[in-house]
Amino acid sequence: MKKKPLLVINASGRVTRSVTRRLTKHFAEGWLARHPNASLVDRDVGTHPPTAITESFIAAAFTPASARTPEMHLELAQSDAMIHELFDAEAIVMGVPMYNFGMPAQLKAFFDQIIRVGRTFNFTGDAENPYQPLIPPKPLVLITSTGTGGYGPGEPYEHLNFLEPHLTSLLHFVGLSNITPVRVDFEEHKGEAFERSLAEAQERLDVILGSSADEVEALGAVAA
Ligand SMILES: Cc1cc2nc3c(=O)[nH]c(=O)nc-3n(C[C@H](O)[C@H](O)[C@H](O)COP(=O)(O)O)c2cc1C
Repeated sequence: MKKKPLLVINASGRVTRSVTRRLTKHFAEGWLARHPNASLVDRDVGTHPPTAITESFIAAAFTPASARTPEMHLELAQSDAMIHELFDAEAIVMGVPMYNFGMPAQLKAFFDQIIRVGRTFNFTGDAENPYQPLIPPKPLVLITSTGTGGYGPGEPYEHLNFLEPHLTSLLHFVGLSNITPVRVDFEEHKGEAFERSLAEAQERLDVILGSSADEVEALGAVAA
């Protein structure tokens, strides 16, 4: 039977020298080698940034599906396609560089496109617990890369890390809460610290690839 695909999301603006692309490729190749009949779906927001949302997008998104005009359906087509990929995936790997202490604008545009009422979340009407995520749980490997280091918990630049906390919040919001983070530091410094960080990230990806779903969940919990 055909398996559901691995969704590969890349957000780096670089194509040739990107560390996150190198690692999503490493993971995707390992996935294909370990899962017979597996396939990949490539969502490259780095080279093909989703459209920034406009008034007509918002009007269409908040109009009930049955009342939408053909123009509104067209307005939402890109969003619908990306949401379908998220629902359809067996698992997801995301490669995300830190740009100016947060995520690249093209990835924020992706989240603005896919976070939609009635599609990826709902309002519950319960003041204590107002939102219900709608994407079914599935493993998500979140690969990030930074130019310097020190952004981790208790480290000197933790207060400047708007990357993983923001990504984690958005992913949880839509139901993708089974996240295993893998980060490479010191990419701009190069040298030994970078090489060690890169090697550790690759090893970690290999461990994730060789682990069962429960073990991956445990890895994510340890590293979060
Ligand atoms: C526009 C831009 C902004 C960046 N901002 C930061 C930053 O705020 N902090 C940091 O540590 N590195 C920063 N970097 C370095 C990148 O995070 C680093 O080069 C990373 O490896 C890029 O991912 P990639 O190798 O997949 O392209 C920035 C790089 C670019 C191009």
